[in-house]
Amino acid sequence: MKTIQTINELQHFLQNNKNKSIGFVPTMGYLHEGHLTLLKKARLENDVVVMSIFVNPAQFGPNEDLDRYPRDIEKDTELATAEGVDVLFAPTAEEMYPFESGITIHAGTLSTKLCGESRPGHFDGVLKVITKLFHIVQPTRVYFGQKDAQQLAIIETFVQAYNFPVEIIRVPTVREIDGLAKSSRNVFLSDAERAEATHLYKALSSAMEVWEQTNSVEEAISKARLLIESNTSGKIDYFEALSYPDLQPISNHTEQILFATAVFFEKARLIDNIIVNVKEV
Ligand code: PAF
Repeated sequence: MKTIQTINELQHFLQNNKNKSIGFVPTMGYLHEGHLTLLKKARLENDVVVMSIFVNPAQFGPNEDLDRYPRDIEKDTELATAEGVDVLFAPTAEEMYPFESGITIHAGTLSTKLCGESRPGHFDGVLKVITKLFHIVQPTRVYFGQKDAQQLAIIETFVQAYNFPVEIIRVPTVREIDGLAKSSRNVFLSDAERAEATHLYKALSSAMEVWEQTNSVEEAISKARLLIESNTSGKIDYFEALSYPDLQPISNHTEQILFATAVFFEKARLIDNIIVNVKEV
């Protein structure tokens, strides 16, 4: 595996691999099994696999965890090599943002809900880096985990609305045996919090079951909130049900329901979700 830090060098490599399909997995590093699942799928479906590691300052708010976001480039390099990645693109912030253009991208209405509400500007920052990375890598397929369901919905909509010539591949969330969604931020949980955190998935599963039995979103949400409140020390940021991927209130026409939650623990804000196909229920 080649590690490349500059855009020029990466584009030189890609020039030499013209006419091959490029599978791209953008990450912020500190890889876990969720990322490895994306890499495996990319490896199976493409001639060349490019993974980026870039902790993107543009998507962190002033009081968020940019400085202490976990990093381990050596271990990530080993894991990516083992997954058959061809190129690890690991640029510096100066390489990615050498000058301030004054031109901005706004994620718009889809970013006013869920995580966007408590993280203003976050999705603008995600679209900023994604646009740059897509133009730099020019991938055939790009792989995203469903754990970040809102991010995925916004990127899919952006790509469709603005004709980015890429295929976005949704990959299901990878979980620990007890149901906790794999996340780089899980390392910030204390032992007690780690045990409690399994209730996020339990609450989402319960919401789905209550909704299936009663058809009442309100009842599903209130029971799920209670489950989190009575079993964890975490503070619920939101627990919501919206149609997916358009993030609208549930109606008779809704085909997929997204149950999504975010919970603040002492040093980590965790997110998780479940997507239910209404027709299959
Ligand atoms: O999901 C992530 O890790 C990041 O938001 C992404 C897509 C790599 C953009 O920085």
